[in-house]
Amino acid sequence: MNDVLTPTAEHPSTAKLPLRPHGKVLAVTSGKGGVGKTFVSANLAAALAKRGHKVLVLDADLGLANLDVVLNLYPKITLHDVFTGKAKLEDAILQAPGGFSVLLAGSGMVEYSRLTPEVRDEFLRIISSLVPHYDVVLLDTGAGISDVVLFAVSLASEVLMVATPEPTSLTDAYATIKVLVGQQQRQTVRVIVNQAARPGSGLAITNQLQQVLDRFVVTDHPIRLVHMGDIPVDPEVRQAIMRRQLLMQATPGCPAGAAISQLARKLEESVIPKPA
Ligand SMILES: Nc1ncnc2c1ncn2[C@@H]1O[C@H](COP(=O)(O)OP(=O)(O)OP(=O)(O)O)[C@@H](O)[C@H]1O
Ligand SMILES: [Mg+2]
Repeated sequence: MNDVLTPTAEHPSTAKLPLRPHGKVLAVTSGKGGVGKTFVSANLAAALAKRGHKVLVLDADLGLANLDVVLNLYPKITLHDVFTGKAKLEDAILQAPGGFSVLLAGSGMVEYSRLTPEVRDEFLRIISSLVPHYDVVLLDTGAGISDVVLFAVSLASEVLMVATPEPTSLTDAYATIKVLVGQQQRQTVRVIVNQAARPGSGLAITNQLQQVLDRFVVTDHPIRLVHMGDIPVDPEVRQAIMRRQLLMQATPGCPAGAAISQLARKLEESVIPKPA
């Protein structure tokens, strides 16, 4: 396991993806912040758990972690304690309300928001020890192209790029995909359009991004965006967050909840093997 994960490049931010452990580490990332990564990670985890998968969500947004807030959990032991050697990894794993496991970063992680060799090694060690125990590990990353975010994404076999239809979000998604293609040789990026104005409108957005990539990004390999689905703007999302409940528990049948269930199904068709 460990040798699969050993980085080969000297500088982490230019690591050439030696690090894909399995087909089941999915990075939930975005170009622009605040587009819904944490909401998607937590609720997708619940939807996958409901379908019988053993899921863990890792709060990989080391600087600005807030998965604990969304899940209404008050962890005594966090990733911070594991990083500093104060606690064992297994003691930091909590059961979330939606039937999945979480590893929360805790506010003390601010000092780890810069990618030092120690942070990189610890991150690798943690992920490589977790992967064999779960069907799916979702990394709820920060936004953009900082070296910590890029490193977290480099550990994943699949990238789920969350974007909203706003031009700023799309520009940032494009810029981020460009970096992932150049730096990590990504050939496939899966796009989730969140806060879509109406159902079905996200496909046009993914197609538009694909056209811009085809036109302006020159690579020696094809880049394929796969549209994974749209999640509509839904007032229930905000209400669930305000009540610090998972949408998939509070109102799973609302439009956004149904879209997340559909996304879980689509992932099962394309990326994650069906549970035995
Ligand atoms: N489909 C939706 N419908 C309505 N509101 C939404 C939807 N998705 C997200 N939101 C709103 O957007 C807010 C931000 O979501 P979230 O915290 O998941 O974003 P993020 O990408 O994780 O942010 P950050 O980049 O700061 O980590 C939520 O608190 C919620 O109010
Ligand atoms: Mg977040």
